[in-house]
Amino acid sequence: MASHNSLPFCAMLPLLLSIFSSMAAIASGNFYRDFDITWGDGRGKILNNGDLLTLSLDKASGSGFQSKNEYMFGKIDMQLKLVPGNSAGTVTAYYLSSKGSTWDEIDFEFLGNLSGDPYILHTNVFSQGKGNREQQFYLWFDPTADFHTYSILWNPQRIMFSVDGTPIREFKNLESNGVPFPKNQPMRIYSSLWNADDWATRGGLVKTDWTQAPFTASYRNFNADACIWSNGASSCNSNSPSTSNGWLSQQLDTTSQERLQWVQKNYMIYNYCTDNKRFPQGLPPECSIS
Ligand SMILES: *[C@@H]1O[C@H](CO)[C@@H](O)[C@H](O)[C@H]1NC(C)=O
Repeated sequence: MASHNSLPFCAMLPLLLSIFSSMAAIASGNFYRDFDITWGDGRGKILNNGDLLTLSLDKASGSGFQSKNEYMFGKIDMQLKLVPGNSAGTVTAYYLSSKGSTWDEIDFEFLGNLSGDPYILHTNVFSQGKGNREQQFYLWFDPTADFHTYSILWNPQRIMFSVDGTPIREFKNLESNGVPFPKNQPMRIYSSLWNADDWATRGGLVKTDWTQAPFTASYRNFNADACIWSNGASSCNSNSPSTSNGWLSQQLDTTSQERLQWVQKNYMIYNYCTDNKRFPQGLPPECSIS
């Protein structure tokens, strides 16, 4: 009688793969579970059982979404594929923000451009209602050709912006030098696609070409290793055994420092910290410390 040997590994592979991919789907979030489309009258859509979200913009309206959860610190990743072709005049904003008149905010904004001309990735950090901390970059790839990962690491010591794992900007906690740092207000994730042709492309010179509408940006693979804030308490303070929060004290290692310098040297096109004309009374204090 033939022995009931276990199946050869290659025969089990499809099963294993389907188990792993369903695990990955759970780990990487679901737009139905994690987000609400908040405006745009049907122009924002959740598709593929919650794996994909798209925002669109036409002459009548843009669209936007926000996270159901509020967070107080986290490492938050999202993959975005930006409006392709002639996207001049359009802005895709993706950011964390708290509420109220002394709000905190951590911003990625993607400024569209004519076909073949580079997008600008605009970043800013607001603490207690005060921003004016813009840094702008070109990217080292075409952000409309495929999905790329845009990450915000926010912990009590620093805010780090990364693109495909490469840090592009660090904002350190310099409260001891009198610079307010966002750490007392929970933030939600927001994103929107809107028309900003009065300033976005070449400072407003290039207008949105509405014959190209609707414009569409896509999102997938959201992942938040984060502390969820609800009813005045953080999920990270509960004694849940599953919290391994390495990101809560993460800093830049030597390799990341080098990558950051590479980006800042080769791709940074604006830095408020070198804009002496804008700050005739002197550059903001964080500029001379970091
Ligand atoms: C658009 O392309 C022009 C020409 O290359 C460039 O100067 C500009 O920085 C690009 N980006 C935006 C958003 O204007």
